[in-house]
Amino acid sequence: MAALQEDFTLSNGLQMPKIGFGTWQITDALEAYGATSAALAHGYRQIDTARVYGNEDSVGRALRDSGLPRSEVFVTSKLPAEIKDPDEALASFETTMAAIGLDYLDCYLIHAPWPWHDIGRDCSAGNKAVWEVLETIYRSGRAKSIGVSNFNAADLRVIIDGCSTRPMVNQIRYFIGHTQEDVVQFCRREGIQVTAYSPLATGKILRHPDLRAVAERYGKSVAQLCIRYVLQKDVGPLPKSTHEQRIRENADVDFEITSADMALLDGLSDTDKVR
Ligand SMILES: NC(=O)c1ccc[n+]([C@@H]2O[C@H](COP(=O)([O-])OP(=O)(O)OC[C@H]3O[C@@H](n4cnc5c(N)ncnc54)[C@H](OP(=O)(O)O)[C@@H]3O)[C@@H](O)[C@H]2O)c1
Repeated sequence: MAALQEDFTLSNGLQMPKIGFGTWQITDALEAYGATSAALAHGYRQIDTARVYGNEDSVGRALRDSGLPRSEVFVTSKLPAEIKDPDEALASFETTMAAIGLDYLDCYLIHAPWPWHDIGRDCSAGNKAVWEVLETIYRSGRAKSIGVSNFNAADLRVIIDGCSTRPMVNQIRYFIGHTQEDVVQFCRREGIQVTAYSPLATGKILRHPDLRAVAERYGKSVAQLCIRYVLQKDVGPLPKSTHEQRIRENADVDFEITSADMALLDGLSDTDKVR
């Protein structure tokens, strides 16, 4: 599956596999270990976790047990969204590293610009302060790249103005019908790679009748269509599944959506509202 072997080059020159495996809501340790192991066995070379997912230990163990060289797998984790204090941020990174049991992360992200219980709160000062901690971690080599998640253009501007190391990645909610063009365009101008969380709208998009009709034209599933669409937008999809067959299917996306169909898909909205 060629798509699994394609990389983005981040602004610091680091190669990041275009497709990553998502692990949100895989809280059971055995399940997280099994799903991550299956993803690695089927050729995924990027794994996305976060301290708040509670599975960093299982992800790290699956990677160590896979027998793959550390250098062949790109591992991302995240600083919890509510942590906006530098000492707490450093302590949280150490907790992540102890749990995951790796010498370094390939990418470390601020999970969100605001706490999840207070979405939209202005945490500019806190974001600047914790970004400086991420810069220190980056300089130490314990994170090969650093970035953010759920940041809009204004949130990013706060970081970019005056920082010594720019964010290399912004991980945002992105799927057919929800493409956040303003954020994506800003990131493109500023050399920040966008990655797509919830590329299947956490499963809500999969019964969409229009998508089913398009997918059938290619002999592919709706999930495969959604993942291929994201790739053709030059964004990195992070599909999650706990089922081996789906984990495999989601990476089997070596086909080309025509420009006419891309335009059709670009025109859809509210795709996650299908009953
Ligand atoms: N930075 C952030 O704030 C943030 C937020 C959300 C997510 N994320 C990241 O992005 C990843 C993906 O997002 P997500 O977890 O919201 O979900 P998603 O990948 O959009 O969708 C996953 C859902 O679709 C189902 N599914 C997956 N492949 C399928 C297939 N081929 N056929 C039918 N159903 C399929 C899964 O069920 P089964 O598991 O039962 O197969 C699950 O219910 C997360 O795991 C996480 O790593 C980041």
